[in-house]
Amino acid sequence: MTLVSPSLLSADFGALDRDIDMLNRSEADMLHIDVMDGVFVPNISFGFPVMKFIERSAKKPLDVHLMIVDPGRYVSQVRDCGAAIMNVHYEACTHLNRVVQQIRQAGMKAAVTLNPATPVGMLEEIITDVDMVLLMSVNPGFGGQSFIQSTIAKVAKLRRLIDETGSKATIEVDGGINLQTGAEVVAAGADVLVAGNFVFSASDPMATIAALKQL
Ligand code: DX5
Ligand code: ZN
Repeated sequence: MTLVSPSLLSADFGALDRDIDMLNRSEADMLHIDVMDGVFVPNISFGFPVMKFIERSAKKPLDVHLMIVDPGRYVSQVRDCGAAIMNVHYEACTHLNRVVQQIRQAGMKAAVTLNPATPVGMLEEIITDVDMVLLMSVNPGFGGQSFIQSTIAKVAKLRRLIDETGSKATIEVDGGINLQTGAEVVAAGADVLVAGNFVFSASDPMATIAALKQL
């Protein structure tokens, strides 16, 4: 069964409790939390105080996606906000191996994220040490963008790398996911779908999450 991680970036922050409550009652497997610093990406979202609030209300594991420079500086703070998974960008870490070790030592699952233009091959030396790989299917920074089609071949390539190396990493895809693009990446080997705009702009977000889980 496909796992679904709805992105709170598209939630109504004036009614965050109501939206988190909906996700708690939905079939969502985890909650995707997008942190942006205005430097690594051209947008600023929210930081630790908001994450603390989300932790207090959420009844599902928190899948934290850090779109910030040098995310290794914040491992303990992310853990203290209740993260189950800490996603760091390959492009943002000078010493990725060290950061992955620090995340695991802190008791979280370690995920490495690749921007659309970063090849899967950059993960060869780390693939057996990570719990998840997050492939961006849009350039990170904003919700509601269009899916980049070349991600489908990239998912298949990553699936091959994982199978060949015996890695236990799961594959998550983030950006422009709907029923059509979601079905395509799942067919190519994706395990986890992030969806922001598609879930929160739907007239029935809970049914939309249930439909994504059926892919
Ligand atoms: C984009 C974020 C995504 C975003 C996805 O920078 O990392 O998680 O919220 O939003 P949609 O599903 O609307 O493309
Ligand atoms: Zn994200």
